[in-house]
Amino acid sequence: MAVTRTFSIIKPDATRRNLTGAVTNMLEKAGLRVVASKRIHMTKEQAEGFYAVHKERPFFGELVDFMISGPVVVQVLEGEDAVARNRKIMGATNPADADQGTIRKELAESIEANTVHGSDSDENAAIEIAYFFDESEIVG
Ligand code: PPS
Repeated sequence: MAVTRTFSIIKPDATRRNLTGAVTNMLEKAGLRVVASKRIHMTKEQAEGFYAVHKERPFFGELVDFMISGPVVVQVLEGEDAVARNRKIMGATNPADADQGTIRKELAESIEANTVHGSDSDENAAIEIAYFFDESEIVG
């Protein structure tokens, strides 16, 4: 299977609870390699742009406010079939529905404070990586 990339965000609920290492450890144990990483505090404009695809959804304002409520860690992950591999270890959006052993089941607080974001396709991974990283910042 091909080695590909995906984009990940460790969300404000996780940075607030000092779980950056715990999340990264679970990603690494799942066979993903962190090839770029930075801790940032998103602006409102940055978060609205990133989540623009969801702007008609009823929770859009809450999602944006949550994502700017504290620092996040944006990461590029590399591994075999990285998008699917990452979504498997993340678990379902709502931690109540997530499988045992997944990041959201083990660590997330709620459907909003759900600890991690992960790209849902190779195409979106490329768009999301380019939103936060220059190619020169990614070191495999
Ligand atoms: S997914 O993965 O795109 O299919 O998930 P989806 O359910 O469509 O949700 C898209 C993002 O919105 C977040 N979300 C919410 N935020 C706040 N309140 C509520 N009720 C809510 N429902 C969903 C969800 O965590 C997804 O964020 P990201 O960062 O993409 O994981």
